[in-house]
Amino acid sequence: MTSGVAARRYPLGAALTLEQLGADPYGPLARLRETEPVSWVPALGGWLVTRRDLCIDVMRDASLFTVDDQRFSTARVVGPSMLSLDGDEHRRHRDPFASAFLRPESRSRFAELAALEAGRLVEALAPAGRAEIRRDLAGPLAVNVVAGALRLLNAEPVEVLAWYDEIVAAVDRVSAGGEIGSRARAAVSDLGRHVDATIRHGHGVLADATATLAPAEIASNAAVMMFGGIETSEGMTTSLFWHLLINPDQLTSVAADRSLGASAVEESLRLEPAAARVDRYATSDTELAGARINAGDLVIVSLTAANRDPTTFPEPDVFDLSRPNARSHLAFAQGPHACVGIHLARLETLAALDAVLDRWPGITIDAGSTPPSGVIFRKPRSLPVRWDGAPPSAAT
Ligand code: HEM
Repeated sequence: MTSGVAARRYPLGAALTLEQLGADPYGPLARLRETEPVSWVPALGGWLVTRRDLCIDVMRDASLFTVDDQRFSTARVVGPSMLSLDGDEHRRHRDPFASAFLRPESRSRFAELAALEAGRLVEALAPAGRAEIRRDLAGPLAVNVVAGALRLLNAEPVEVLAWYDEIVAAVDRVSAGGEIGSRARAAVSDLGRHVDATIRHGHGVLADATATLAPAEIASNAAVMMFGGIETSEGMTTSLFWHLLINPDQLTSVAADRSLGASAVEESLRLEPAAARVDRYATSDTELAGARINAGDLVIVSLTAANRDPTTFPEPDVFDLSRPNARSHLAFAQGPHACVGIHLARLETLAALDAVLDRWPGITIDAGSTPPSGVIFRKPRSLPVRWDGAPPSAAT
């Protein structure tokens, strides 16, 4: 299809810009969902799927829409892992982690870890009377919890974060056609050494995985667990506080009845899924809702758009704690690559909410907050808050 033909057939897709997607994409995505639910978007170099049922179809059909493609740069940096494989090999890489992170296993192994880490961070900040939720709480909590859950021997959270930063930067570079770079190589081999030591020590999910995976495979999947667990969880927790703080009546309800916390988490995930999209590549020519997709085309599933599909979620833009089906959101994806960390992430964000409600009474939003933004990972970049006892900041 030439660009002229594509623009005539998909005028809304042709007009969509990265700026719109990064800032406040909901109006353009709603219009696309109505008239071009599978649209060619030149700004993304691929098809954008915005209707919830079609998003599910794509994510469930790994034989037609695969992650196993050279263009996925993560595998080139950390090696093949569950994130970059499909079929039997995908199951072999994923199973040891998936079974360790099932709901009962997550509860018994990680609930205490999440509560301890959240309590410690919140307690340390309490005397100051003010904090910035993303950098002071959500980010450090995400790193500490994933590092603790993997039980990497002798790896401090600060070291885990340094590897993570190097690997993420290398993935970005490789995606843009650049080199992995020596620092990222060093980070990957450092992680590999820690994984080897952990395996020799014989404890935790990484050691258990030796039944089916080689050490190098365990290391690449450990990297992917960090990938999966840091930026997204930081976004998930920050967006939850954002939604509650800009809806103070609902914050009051949650403070009065803590059992509503879980609904708040789901509703926040629905409105702002921390990962806005998942990417697949078509393995053969196919048709989806009238769109003719060629083998090799990039197909982008917009979780952001699917989660506001009015056929499933009436009044989709409203943050509503009593929404009966909020859990039907797709923030954790669906199908064979559905998030392995779902239960851990929920535990972690709820632990942060509980700790804050316990120790920061009268929490309110402070000057300088920014609404959620981002093309791939969405979150408020800054969410300053204060609580009882703190003087208002100079800017308020
Ligand atoms: C402790 C936290 C987390 C861990 C350890 C984790 C880990 C992972 C892993 C390993 C995968 C790859 C699964 C596979 O390919 O088979 C994955 C997928 C995914 N995760 Fe998570 N995750 C965490 C939190 C989150 C959060 C908070 C979100 C968003 C709210 C999220 C959204 C996703 C999505 C959308 C996918 C699908 C990716 C794809 O299909 O391409 N994850 N996660």
